[in-house]
Amino acid sequence: MSANLRRPAIPAVQTILGLETSCDETAAAVVRRHADGRVEVLSSAVASQIAEHAPYGGVVPEIAARSHVEAIDSIAAEAMRSAGVGYGDLTGVAATAGPGLVGGVMVGLSFGKAVALARGLPLVAVNHLEGHAVSARLGAEVAYPFLLLLVSGGHCQLLSVDGVGLCRRLGSTMDDAAGEAFDKIAKSLGLPYPGGPALEKLAEGGDPERFPLPRSLLGHKGCDFSFSGLKTAAARLAESVTSEADRRDVACAVQAAITRQLAERSDRAMALYAQEHGGRDLRFVVAGGVAANRMVRARLEAVARARGFSFTAPPLAYCTDNAAMIALAGAERLALGLSDTLDTPARPRWPLDAAAALSNPTHTPGRKGAKA
Ligand code: KG4
Ligand code: ZN
Repeated sequence: MSANLRRPAIPAVQTILGLETSCDETAAAVVRRHADGRVEVLSSAVASQIAEHAPYGGVVPEIAARSHVEAIDSIAAEAMRSAGVGYGDLTGVAATAGPGLVGGVMVGLSFGKAVALARGLPLVAVNHLEGHAVSARLGAEVAYPFLLLLVSGGHCQLLSVDGVGLCRRLGSTMDDAAGEAFDKIAKSLGLPYPGGPALEKLAEGGDPERFPLPRSLLGHKGCDFSFSGLKTAAARLAESVTSEADRRDVACAVQAAITRQLAERSDRAMALYAQEHGGRDLRFVVAGGVAANRMVRARLEAVARARGFSFTAPPLAYCTDNAAMIALAGAERLALGLSDTLDTPARPRWPLDAAAALSNPTHTPGRKGAKA
């Protein structure tokens, strides 16, 4: 990773172009951050590749990279146009530099470098997970520190977030991410990709108790997750049912089981966090694509309230991948005088808590190679 450079003059108001290309959305956004921390999203454009990947039941890296190349120019132009700003109004460019599918990451990062070079702007190479970590701040004021559950298609981890770039991992998945479990089980129920939203819809009005599903890591004392046992059991169950009512009850049981695990581990992490913080600064944030799920949001909110934590989830549009969160992460770094050099590489893996990732090799790489 390139060293951060200290820049002398920090504008009081940051107007940042953000770029996100780490998975299957080509996204660009313009975000304005004021000196007092107030945030305005001036635009947020997302070109989804869902239709291109749907026939394969998941993201195909080569197709994703090519689509990002085709879309990035027009999405960036659309973000600038709808924000009503010109390149001369920008104070910086922020692009996702990882973790993610590296062919795609390179597209957005190279575009960001080109804009930075052509316009003499500082570049911030943003960790995609740091983007998710700040995403709740796009809709509400959330002060540091906070406890974060980052739960998406590629990641499932609990982090203590003490400030910009200051994360300590309390637990993470030992196999699949929660979104990945939603996607794979949805596929075995014959639902289209991405499976999470489709499974949530199918589960409406279902009976969560009818089909019992295994509870992973029941005796485990930590804050880690495991979804592979649930995935196998649910796939077997999905194959054995035929009626629409049965499928609905399976979907409902799966959603309840994933939610229960997320809630149980978050509850444990909240207890630890509250102890460490002497009962002060008790803020809980959930972010990532799975945070769009209504049952997950409601259950986590109830757990947080019971533990005396405030609860914040990003507005729905900023749960799944977007560039506004990348622009904001960039703005927060620039406000601290942090930027990156133009030789910063794209990184397929980039854990937020590098020390924890090194010390716990049981947490194996997944779909995006970045569950550390
Ligand atoms: O954050 P995201 O857009 O991409 C990653 O960084 O992974 O998350 C996408 C994931 C997918 O697995 C998708 O199925 C899941 O979030 N997801 C949902 C819902 N909306 C998106 N899972 C459950 N319920 C939803 N409503
Ligand atoms: Zn993401």
